[in-house]
Amino acid sequence: MIVRKFQPTDLKRVFEIESMSFNQSYGINMFQQLHDMGVGFLVAEKDGYVVGYVLFWIKYENQGHIISIAVDKNYRRRGYGTQLLVKAISILSLLHLDTIYLEVNENNRGAVEFYEQFSFKQDRVVPGYYENGDGAIVMYLKLEGGKISRK
Ligand SMILES: CC(C)(COP(=O)(O)OP(=O)(O)OC[C@H]1O[C@@H](n2cnc3c(N)ncnc32)[C@H](O)[C@@H]1OP(=O)(O)O)[C@@H](O)C(=O)NCCC(=O)NCCS
Repeated sequence: MIVRKFQPTDLKRVFEIESMSFNQSYGINMFQQLHDMGVGFLVAEKDGYVVGYVLFWIKYENQGHIISIAVDKNYRRRGYGTQLLVKAISILSLLHLDTIYLEVNENNRGAVEFYEQFSFKQDRVVPGYYENGDGAIVMYLKLEGGKISRK
């Protein structure tokens, strides 16, 4: 398995993974636009097949933000999400940021547990954050010297 930079030829596959993973979609054009804007965009590849992606950027001067992460449902619980998240955090750590944060659907307990494995903490709930009315849990990770470990 490798984690590498997104290439435009990955677009269709990334959109497929997003569509099977979330009720609310960024849409294929938004992925292209985010890439063109220069956000961090990595994919995980297994035997040449893209099985997951992560998008991240610096939203504020000292805060990184995980925009989206997903793994094909047929490839979950095999460590791909871990590889993607660890690589994104490693890159953001190099930029001397204080914190990384993200939003996760309050009903997505699996993802909350996933982030907690990397010591993300729950900060607050933003009611009605998603189009269907679901709230988002804002989670954050304090970066301490770039060390990233799973519990
Ligand atoms: C969240 C997601 C990216 C995790 O990807 P993954 O490749 O399955 O994650 P990993 O295999 O690296 O999991 C690492 C650990 O996180 C925890 N974890 C992951 N998914 C979990 C789940 N559904 N329930 C509970 N714990 C979970 C486990 O501790 C797991 O270790 P284990 O398998 O040894 O028990 C994936 O489930 C996914 O794409 N979900 C849909 C999209 C999504 O919810 N994205 C995040 C929302 S912001």
